[in-house]
Amino acid sequence: MSRSASELLLYCRPGFERDLAEELADKAAEAGWAGEAIQGAGGGFVRFCLADEEPANGLHRALPLSGLVFARQSLVALTPLSLDREDRLSPITEQAVESGWSFESIWHETPDTNDGKALGGLAKALTRPLESLLKKRGALRRKAGGRRLHLLWSAGDCVQLGLSFPGNRSEQLGGIRRLRFPRSAPSRSTLKLEEAWHEFVPRSEWDTRLAEGMQAADLGAAPGGWTWQLVHRGIHVYAIDNGPMDKALMATGQIEHLREDGFVWEPPYRLDWLVCDIVDKPSRVEAMMERWLVRRWCREAVFNLKLPMKRRWPEVRACLTRLEEALASAGVAAEISCRHLYHDREEVTVHVRLRD
Ligand SMILES: C[S@@+](CC[C@H](N)C(=O)[O-])C[C@H]1O[C@@H](n2cnc3c(N)ncnc32)[C@H](O)[C@@H]1O
Repeated sequence: MSRSASELLLYCRPGFERDLAEELADKAAEAGWAGEAIQGAGGGFVRFCLADEEPANGLHRALPLSGLVFARQSLVALTPLSLDREDRLSPITEQAVESGWSFESIWHETPDTNDGKALGGLAKALTRPLESLLKKRGALRRKAGGRRLHLLWSAGDCVQLGLSFPGNRSEQLGGIRRLRFPRSAPSRSTLKLEEAWHEFVPRSEWDTRLAEGMQAADLGAAPGGWTWQLVHRGIHVYAIDNGPMDKALMATGQIEHLREDGFVWEPPYRLDWLVCDIVDKPSRVEAMMERWLVRRWCREAVFNLKLPMKRRWPEVRACLTRLEEALASAGVAAEISCRHLYHDREEVTVHVRLRD
């Protein structure tokens, strides 16, 4: 008889295991699921084990990855395996076959830590032989609904098998979207806005939602990494910051730099985009965004909530709840998403799109 997977395996940024575990515990309980979140200490992953070994597929669907803040990847998973270094392949093959899983591809992944990186060679060496064994046993197939087997190696003798499904997973190895730093951009922060667009705006809609000739405001713009992204898309930008903007960027002629306070500045007319990377209290930034969105001063917004505090999830949850409630009570329909992006450090990125 096949054994069903009764846990979820989620990846996160190392050091954010507690935040993800707290988020999962809250959201699983709200969705009516009992279980326990186990933090992979410092390893950048969290297991959520269901009570009574219930199958985890239902919970996996109930908590889509796009609705989780701190998770980079979400898998339905089997119990972790402790391996004998003499024969790592047999137990992996047996567990995969016994689970009754079938899949079209296999990804070996390691935690996003220095120890994790050192396991890359081992994973590489095992790739071909494991593929051939699992093909022979009928688990690795040409057609299997796009499902993918993930092997998360937390040590040379410790691996956990997980399964991912198209439409509810990250398509990036380790859930990490690596982006190339554009050489003419004035700061590395530029990658945060680019990643946010990849995350929140489907690529097929970039030409209409990030279109040439649009108008945007960038609050806390200096030296101009986020403004660079907007300008690069042909968008005109009000750059609000007391600090100096990059000279070459200003020479594009697409920017009006105003040395004003981003918390009080008001746009002269309705803008297409508002972006904000000001370092301040999350509640203060949220209140400012509320003002913009309730008055419909922009159609879409991307902003960061900086999280230097110890317990980040309660802070994020409080801000998002306040924003949702304020928009609802003002009768403003909006889609709100929040994710801890790869290029974010102690912060999360929020995207809001007003529905017309
Ligand atoms: C993290 S930096 C922004 C980096 C920028 N996104 C980039 O990619 O280059 C934060 C900026 O917010 C500005 N800032 C802080 N408080 C502000 C306020 N009340 N109004 C406008 N700008 C503010 C700071 O001067 C600083 O330049």
